[in-house]
Amino acid sequence: MHETRPVSAVKAELEAFGAANDRAVSDGRERMLNITPDTGEFLGVLVRATGARRILEVGTSNGYSTLWLAEAAMATGGQVTTVEWATDKWVKAGENFAAAGVDGVVESLHADAEKVLERQEEASLDLIFLDADRGRYPDWWPMLRRVLCPGGLLVMDNATSHAEEVAPFLDLVEDDPAFSTSLVPVGKGEFLATRAASP
Ligand SMILES: C[S@@+](CC[C@H](N)C(=O)[O-])C[C@H]1O[C@@H](n2cnc3c(N)ncnc32)[C@H](O)[C@@H]1O
Repeated sequence: MHETRPVSAVKAELEAFGAANDRAVSDGRERMLNITPDTGEFLGVLVRATGARRILEVGTSNGYSTLWLAEAAMATGGQVTTVEWATDKWVKAGENFAAAGVDGVVESLHADAEKVLERQEEASLDLIFLDADRGRYPDWWPMLRRVLCPGGLLVMDNATSHAEEVAPFLDLVEDDPAFSTSLVPVGKGEFLATRAASP
């Protein structure tokens, strides 16, 4: 049995670690690139307000954003699947989930997100949080829209911090008549897209 700490305490540790680490390292792969705390609060509200239970996060890093999603999933009776391909980050995330006692509601996959999206069943997810390899989002869009259930919500980070980079993806989603979208100025900019409740 491992000792657990309150989720809030683990989140606070990760906030301090992420800020110090990302200032100190120059190699982008060693950065944690965590969401901002207000983005975490926003995600928590979105999960609770929509009652999302089947949640997928693309881009775990060391699990900071996952902790926000997992806390909210505990309130909705849901489950979070999170995907990370970098081994060191996936290992750290697993340690953090165990430390915060959320490993029961988190499935942490060590994989390329594309493979996970490919095998995900149609209309099987209530909420997807997208925070990974932005250049690949346009290619992932057909899979993302297939796996979101009617009424489901896609949330993408970095909509304002990397506006130029994500513009082709936003164009695709905004042009899709099945989706309603909104750009929310929280943290690094959260792009929301919800699928019409009926086909
Ligand atoms: C911005 S960070 C995620 C930060 C995390 N959501 C948080 O706020 O704590 C992006 C992560 O996505 C991972 N990543 C990028 N492309 C990926 C892919 N195709 N499959 C899985 N993970 C990927 C990177 O290794 C990196 O750790």
